[in-house]
Amino acid sequence: MSDTKTVKLVDESNNRSSELPLLSGTLGPACVDIGNLYKDTGHFTYDPGYGSTASTKSAITYIDGDQGVLLYRGYPIEQLAEKSSFLETAYLLLNGELPSKGEFAKFEDDITHHTMMHESLKDFFKGFHHDAHPMAMLAASVASLSAFYHDDIDVDNADDRKLAAIRLIAKMPTIAAACFRYSIGWPFRYPRNNLEYVDRFLHMMFEVPSEPLTLSPVAAKALDLLFILHADHEQNASTSTVRLVGSTGANPYASIAAGITALWGPAHGGANEAVLKMLEEIGTADKVESAVKRAKDKNDNFRLMGFGHRVYKNFDPRAKIIREMTHKVLGELGVNDPLLEVALKLEEAALKDDYFVERKLYPNVDFYSGIIYKALNIPTEMFTVMFAIARTAGWIAHWIEQHETPGARIGRPRQIYTGADVRNYVAADKR
Ligand code: SDX
Repeated sequence: MSDTKTVKLVDESNNRSSELPLLSGTLGPACVDIGNLYKDTGHFTYDPGYGSTASTKSAITYIDGDQGVLLYRGYPIEQLAEKSSFLETAYLLLNGELPSKGEFAKFEDDITHHTMMHESLKDFFKGFHHDAHPMAMLAASVASLSAFYHDDIDVDNADDRKLAAIRLIAKMPTIAAACFRYSIGWPFRYPRNNLEYVDRFLHMMFEVPSEPLTLSPVAAKALDLLFILHADHEQNASTSTVRLVGSTGANPYASIAAGITALWGPAHGGANEAVLKMLEEIGTADKVESAVKRAKDKNDNFRLMGFGHRVYKNFDPRAKIIREMTHKVLGELGVNDPLLEVALKLEEAALKDDYFVERKLYPNVDFYSGIIYKALNIPTEMFTVMFAIARTAGWIAHWIEQHETPGARIGRPRQIYTGADVRNYVAADKR
């Protein structure tokens, strides 16, 4: 007698049934393995937003949306936010364990010595108008890395996969900073190997030839923390995109570029940019009530950007950390942003409102992050680029995990066909 638990599905209309295995992981709900459902019953399952569908097994990140729990490789996000760094977190996501001092030193050295982009890549930017959205420039530039490295990567070779991960994590800040500087007509800056990861990025973003840049430890610490919080998040839309593209055997640069374009959407990573524009549109705290009213109006497609989440039906633990951090960072930087008061008032109003309470809509990771980016002088159009820099660690960790999974198959969902029934061609003069 097998000790595998099963779920029996009976199709009384066709007098057919299917005994489906119930799969469990370390934590979280069990999953019904429907692999044999079509063979046993002739039926597909239907779950267009994948709200009840696990697309893969993964050991990287765990989320409990009801309890507001987020673990990277088993470590609570609150502990990593307090004690780790983005680069150490990236190592953890990639390798499954926190590094020893020697392992981290080697990883950091590898990253540091892969930060430059090919000189020819700089010419690609000249094709963009100065007001091109940085996410468009980032996606195109990262996809173009395929042209520089496509021939020397064997996706089935573990060392090649690891080198691609190093290159992507290392070059993303360099390319991101180039997107920003191109948009304002400043010359690109080479990465400085004597600086740590976030300081190096801030230097490439803001250093100008005419005067030396004084780097702010407060800004660097704030950005490092935001990168930790944005590094991974299970099978979100952009990570699922990376996995789907990667499942075809596409190289990692093309797969990550697909993730960047998926992240851009305002329902996903583009929300942080949309939140700031929403707060600016609301303008003052006394206009919050009318914004909440609009967000509830079914005839108005206005939504409270930065609110709600497919998985979190409680506070997004990242939003809690960022909320506390916002006050601290703005205080330490001596920034008084009236939009923070609008955000706090909006959160207070929404969390008291039945519409949001009934639908379990809470602030998510994107609600406060933009206020901090703004305090760091990062322009609104660059907010989602910040998200992409951090999420590159998670994306490439998932891409590698998928390639290390024996028997991984190409992702190819089915559908419910609602088009015309079969019919014969009609000659043009008979239509
Ligand atoms: C990220 O998946 C991840 O893990 C993503 C992410 C990550 O780290 O990768 O966490 C990052 O993308 C965070 C989410 C950022 N997006 C936003 O802040 C955009 C605003 N939020 C939404 O559009 C929405 O909440 C989603 C997209 C986040 C979730 O959408 P769902 O799960 O499909 O929920 P839904 O659209 O079906 O909403 C359920 C109900 C609906 O009302 P009813 O039909 O029941 O009457 O809640 C309402 C929605 O109209 N609703 C909102 C709302 N979000 C949902 N109403 C007003 N304002 C909102 N923000």
